[in-house]
Amino acid sequence: MSTRYQGKVVIVTGAASGIGRAVATRLASEGARLVIADLTADKLEEAAAELRAGGAEVRAVAGDVSLEADVARILDGARELGRLDVLINNAGVMDKLTPLHEVTDELWQKVMAVNIGGAFALCRRALPLMMEAKAGAIVNVASVAGLNGGRGGAAYTASKHALIGLTRSMAWYYGPHGIRANAVCPGAVDTPLGPGGMPSMAGIKRMQQQLGGLPRSAKPEEIAAAVAFLGSDDASYVNGAALVVDAGWSSF
Ligand SMILES: NC(=O)c1ccc[n+]([C@@H]2O[C@H](COP(=O)([O-])OP(=O)(O)OC[C@H]3O[C@@H](n4cnc5c(N)ncnc54)[C@H](O)[C@@H]3O)[C@@H](O)[C@H]2O)c1
Repeated sequence: MSTRYQGKVVIVTGAASGIGRAVATRLASEGARLVIADLTADKLEEAAAELRAGGAEVRAVAGDVSLEADVARILDGARELGRLDVLINNAGVMDKLTPLHEVTDELWQKVMAVNIGGAFALCRRALPLMMEAKAGAIVNVASVAGLNGGRGGAAYTASKHALIGLTRSMAWYYGPHGIRANAVCPGAVDTPLGPGGMPSMAGIKRMQQQLGGLPRSAKPEEIAAAVAFLGSDDASYVNGAALVVDAGWSSF
């Protein structure tokens, strides 16, 4: 197995489940020291125990990426490990596939607060550390919904488009500081994510038509492989990319 992450400190949000958990497992297997964060302590501790059993050094921080105080505690986890090399903004929520005219203020604010607000808050605190080190990599787990209009509801689609915009802005500004920022855009992945609650009937009907073109869904490990690449020095010349990982779904 590769040692691309040997000694590196990596933050992974949403690491108790699905893609985030697969990313943490993959990076640990390549030598990373991890700060893993997620909402609930129980599931997070279970993930941490599994990673430690495999030999990884892990700090587990139960918290909500949409809350500034929790974001600060996540960054403290990296400080305790002495450095921050890679930040992976993976925590995210869906929007019940809701078309715009049905979106409540509450749904809009929740999806924005987590999917874009969380990444913003973590990056804002991580970038000064990376600038000081003159090195760093940020990988944002976006979605094909960040590039296409028909892969989620209005709030989810807008939040993932915003996340790609944020990624490109950081790539542009912080590239000269030795920091790379990239996004991964998965298609449909077998995880517990789901629609995020009882789906909108109008939205699900429309989405079912869209899913007809999906070649197959991905295993979380297939997305983790792309995240691991973008966070590593193998991707030293990749900055500002929105890497589509969807078995061709968006191409045809
Ligand atoms: N599953 C898919 O088909 C798919 C496709 C494209 C993109 N994505 C994106 O991948 C990312 C990971 O999703 P997944 O499919 O692994 O889903 P998942 O539900 O298995 O995992 C998401 C994790 O994020 C955590 N989380 C949610 N809100 C949080 C918050 N406010 N603070 C901290 N943690 C929080 C959840 O508790 C959960 O453990 C998300 O950003 C999602 O939008 C998923």
